[in-house]
Amino acid sequence: MRINTLLWVAGSAVALTSCNWDKSTPGYTYMDDMYRSPSHQTYEPGTAKEPVEGTVPRGYVPYTIPNSNEGYAASRANTEVPAMYAALDAESGKQLYTQFCSHCHGEKGDGNGILMQREKILGIPGYGADKLPDITPGSIYHVIMYGKNNMGSHASQLNYEERWKIIKYVWKLRMDQVPGAAPAAADTTVAQPAA
Ligand code: HEC
Repeated sequence: MRINTLLWVAGSAVALTSCNWDKSTPGYTYMDDMYRSPSHQTYEPGTAKEPVEGTVPRGYVPYTIPNSNEGYAASRANTEVPAMYAALDAESGKQLYTQFCSHCHGEKGDGNGILMQREKILGIPGYGADKLPDITPGSIYHVIMYGKNNMGSHASQLNYEERWKIIKYVWKLRMDQVPGAAPAAADTTVAQPAA
């Protein structure tokens, strides 16, 4: 009888103390490390750190000019292709241009791509200075980033380098269209033809 009482008391004591209310732990355990790994758990608070403010992914170049009329006007002020792409052969952007732009703007950049011919999209300009007198490499970059009216943004499809390659090629097409026209804003080394 006394033994029974003793067993009861001991049993209840074990039962009462071995449980706890925290569902994420197995309660009191023998050789704890076998149940709970001392290493950090994935995404445990304090392990996966947020990148510091202002961090950008490798190869990504932030574009800070806003998508507004003022932003567009401001983008025109940029008449330079970044120095590291300035020496690039314009032809190196041809393939990208053919993939992403020519179905609208035409292979020659005359605004007569297949979608224009089939009247799927209207109002596509050619790149010639007669059609677009005020564009600059900066404004083309702006339009690639944000699109313009019927032209969608191409920012997610082209990385920084690809955008400049295309711009160089677009500029070449522009020059091809108006031989002898005023020198491109991007190429100030060409002398104005005498009037
Ligand atoms: C879906 C057809 C379409 C595609 C694809 C397209 N464009 Fe356009 N683009 C347009 C239309 C339409 C306009 C005229 C927008 C307006 O002024 O209303 C335009 C305008 C432009 C302009 C003149 C913007 C200005 O400042 O007035 C440039 C430069 C240009 N596109 C470059 C490109 C380049 C570079 C690509 C390829 C990355 C491209 N476009 C792809 C339809 C297209």
